[in-house]
Amino acid sequence: MLGAGEGGEAEVTKLVVASNRGPIQFEVDDDGNLSTSRGSGGMVAALGPALAGQGGTWVAAAISDGDRVAARKAKGGRRRVELAQGAVQLRSIVIDQPKYQAYYNRVSNRTLWFLQHHLFDVPRHPGFDRSFRDAWHAYTDVNVTFAEACEAEADEGGEVYVQDYHLSLVPAMLRERRQDIAINFFLHCPWVDPDSWAMLPEKVSGEILTGMLGADLLGFLVPRWARNFLRCCEAAGYQVDHAKDGGGQVRLDSGRVVSARAYPLGVDADLLRERAAKPDVRGQRRAMRDWARNRRLVVRVDRMELSKNILRGLDGFRFFLERNPRARGRVVHYVLAYASRRDLPEYQAYASEVRQKVDDINERFRTRNWEPVRLEAKDNYPRALAAMAMADVLIVNPVWDGMNLVAKEGPSVSDNDTVLILSRNAGAADDLADCAIVVNPFDTAELAESIRRALEMPADERASRAKALVVGASALPPRDWFDAQRADLQALWEAGGAKNKARKH
Ligand code: F6P
Repeated sequence: MLGAGEGGEAEVTKLVVASNRGPIQFEVDDDGNLSTSRGSGGMVAALGPALAGQGGTWVAAAISDGDRVAARKAKGGRRRVELAQGAVQLRSIVIDQPKYQAYYNRVSNRTLWFLQHHLFDVPRHPGFDRSFRDAWHAYTDVNVTFAEACEAEADEGGEVYVQDYHLSLVPAMLRERRQDIAINFFLHCPWVDPDSWAMLPEKVSGEILTGMLGADLLGFLVPRWARNFLRCCEAAGYQVDHAKDGGGQVRLDSGRVVSARAYPLGVDADLLRERAAKPDVRGQRRAMRDWARNRRLVVRVDRMELSKNILRGLDGFRFFLERNPRARGRVVHYVLAYASRRDLPEYQAYASEVRQKVDDINERFRTRNWEPVRLEAKDNYPRALAAMAMADVLIVNPVWDGMNLVAKEGPSVSDNDTVLILSRNAGAADDLADCAIVVNPFDTAELAESIRRALEMPADERASRAKALVVGASALPPRDWFDAQRADLQALWEAGGAKNKARKH
């Protein structure tokens, strides 16, 4: 739980971060009182600990009603907020609702997110009609607002770190306004191959590439996403030099050079273990123990999100029960899938299909004293930590995923040498392939077999894999991940910045 301070003084700092979702979310009660909770998702989980205490300003959209009330109460929309590891200054941007919906739901989530994770139902979607063009204008406008806020917050000669696909136009807009600052852009999701990328209208895909290439340094979660991005640049006619590590450089006509590199985000295992030892998590463990009653525990923890492949995960568990009658009554599957992007019809339909599938499995297999699957849809971080700590098997089977931090958090807090079943299409598979059971996320028969294999794995093999998982998961914890980008950005800026300074694009 994080706290927020009251309206603070305007503070111009060298370090500015911009993202759609901020580090905390405000809620407002009927009497107008504000309370806060941690912003959800991987980007916030990474940047919170990376930035806290560094004296930076975090520019973010006011998303909830509470965020908007808090933003209006704060002087100049700025307030100091306390994160778990230190304070940051939050600059909230209030955007009118229809525009925000078009930027966030229609373009960012229903189009760019769907594209980068291969979520389109291709015979029907996408269709880029007139209303999409209008939404694209809204997306562009919101990016302008962010660029203006970054411009106002950044000190002379400062650094700006722009996050994610919501803000892909900001780097070029910012460079146009300010040539004295070093700009980094980091993408927290995958990047598709050129054929998939070409589904976007040419104007849109071209503007996104131009927008991102306004940065000095582009960061991706793993080399394969950086490589795909560079291939898309090539297909669009840019001159690209590929490096052996998957990264490379794009040479612009102006002579400016933009670097693309991978920074495989990991977790801070010590910090997570410390958190998992707190009384609220211990309480949740007791509740989980009462429910599991010494049965083997198969766990998943996700947002209720199409890319997480929860339906096929449940199919895999069902097949496992069908093929392994002796496991019935001895294994339980705990599914924590907390609500996400509830305004989108695709997510509403997906959530109800997930609930239906859980009911079907329970109806088919339940006995008087055993219910095979338990689904919880509330965001409950202590409960998630307790479940991951106790899991015999952790399923992480996204169709595609930039990294997937659950795959790294789970083994880090495990006191049960958890076996990780991991989709090969998660970025995390690049770091953990040797010690996880790696699966094709579309092959539910393989998943069923993997659950059996994981549950039957000898203790010594579990232990050695678990040890290696923690090493792989914590190779680049958030602070080091951010520092590595910061060091690279500064080095690039010093080496080429003077030259680049003269060139706006
Ligand atoms: O790129 C992924 C991301 O933007 C992360 O911040 C997080 O994992 C998730 O998406 C959160 O999405 P939203 O802000 O739409 O809830």
